[in-house]
Order: sequence, then C-alpha cells, then structure tokens
Amino acid sequence: MTDAASLPDLAPLRAWFASYCESFRSPDADLQRNFDLKELHTRNVCAAALLIAQGGDGRRQMLAEVAALCHDLGRFPQFRDFRTFKDSESLNHAHLSAQILQQSDLLDFLPKHERDSVLFAVRLHNAFEVPAGLAPQTEELLRVLRDADKLDIWRIFMEYFHAPAGERASGAGLGFPDLPACSPDVLAAVGAQKMVQLSTMKSLNDFKLLQLSWVYDINFPGTLRLIRERGVLEQLAATLPREEEVLEVVARVREYLERRLDGCPM
Ligand SMILES: [Fe+2]
Repeated sequence: MTDAASLPDLAPLRAWFASYCESFRSPDADLQRNFDLKELHTRNVCAAALLIAQGGDGRRQMLAEVAALCHDLGRFPQFRDFRTFKDSESLNHAHLSAQILQQSDLLDFLPKHERDSVLFAVRLHNAFEVPAGLAPQTEELLRVLRDADKLDIWRIFMEYFHAPAGERASGAGLGFPDLPACSPDVLAAVGAQKMVQLSTMKSLNDFKLLQLSWVYDINFPGTLRLIRERGVLEQLAATLPREEEVLEVVARVREYLERRLDGCPM
C-alpha cells in the first residue's frame, strides 16, 4: 500500500477542472445544459473510478481519479464548436482530451510513466476495444476508466428518457431518430453476446441495444455488482419495445451478467 501522505494532492487539478468548466459558461440554455451534463458526468466518473479502483494501492486510486477528471475535457470544445457529442460528425473527443492535456502542464506533478499512462487511458477510453500490448499499469487504468465511464453514461441515458423533452440535454441521444423498431442485425449481435459498433446504429432503439451490449465489455466485478444494484439492465429494457425478440436479447444479457457475477468463466 502507498502511504497516503506521499500521494499528490489533487485539489489543484480539481480546482482547475472547475475553472475549465466555468470558462465555457454560455447564456445559450441548450449549450449550457450540455456543458453541465459533461461536468456532472466527469464528477460521477471520478466517483465511480474511485469505487472501482478501491482496495488496491492508493496510487492506483489517485491515477484513476486523475484519468477520470481529464477524460472528457474534449467534450466541451466539441459541443461548443459542433453542437454534437457524436464523434463521427465532429472529432474524436478522447484524442482532443489527450491533446489538451499534452499542451498543458496539468500532469507535470506526476512522474513520466504515470503521466504517459493517464494520457494513454484518456486517449483510448472510447476505443471499441482495449488494444493489446499496453503496459500493465496503463491497461489497468484504461479498464477502470472505461468501466466508470459506462456506469455514468447509463445514468445519463436513463435521465434523458425520464426528463421532459424541453429539459433534455440535446447531445445525450446523439441525434438518433426515435423509430419504433430495432434493427435485426443489431438485435442478433447483442443476442450473440457481441459488442455493437456505434457506426451500425440506425435509431435510438439501436443505440439502447448498443448500451446493453456494453455489459459484455465490463472489466471488474465491482462494476458488474453496481450494474445489478442500480438496475441498469431493467431500466434500459423498460425503454425498449416490449417485443419477444427484444425480451429474449435482454434475457441473454442478464444471463451473461449473472454468470459473471457468479464468477463463471465466459
Ligand atoms: Fe465520459
């Protein structure tokens, strides 16, 4: 265990993040709602990353918070300049987050190998898969960040559906059309326990199925427990059409979750 006294104080970085958010403040209500969404999201991802990384080395938790705090910096200029959170229609927000970090001295309080791990985790947090060949510390950090990010994106998405239309942050639904059906190929992929690519989405329902498929990409037992405790699958399922094929796919994802919680190999 790392001696807590030897850990860097993150208060300056947290304060910098608050001022960074403040620097985007806008009188445009929709713009500000989307900035607020990302500020709250970042704070929640920090909390989730700390939960997931707890019980280990204190440094591991500290790095998890640093990576979480910085992972979506690019979301602010992305939404300001393009009015979307859809990377394919704007830019790769994770690359932009890493670029903002690299062009600053924000991470100078960390030794170089830890700085590089944080930069890597931030840059790759939205990649379809965790790439092979990463240094163990970097891979661990990336996996913590990806789990924490998903946990809060699920929350955002549920709140989006429960909010009155006029109060929704416009970016949260990624602009997908709210069509009644699910695409058969997306249903088949999720039913076959495959992750779904964002580029194949045709509707909001497909996007909900994609979010169900994220359960297959979860790394830590603690995250799986939080998914169950928070009723993520049930809440997502409640927003989907109540058709037999859809219910079957949801059941498949639930079986997967329960098997992993029981510690069975996949
Ligand atoms: Fe995020």
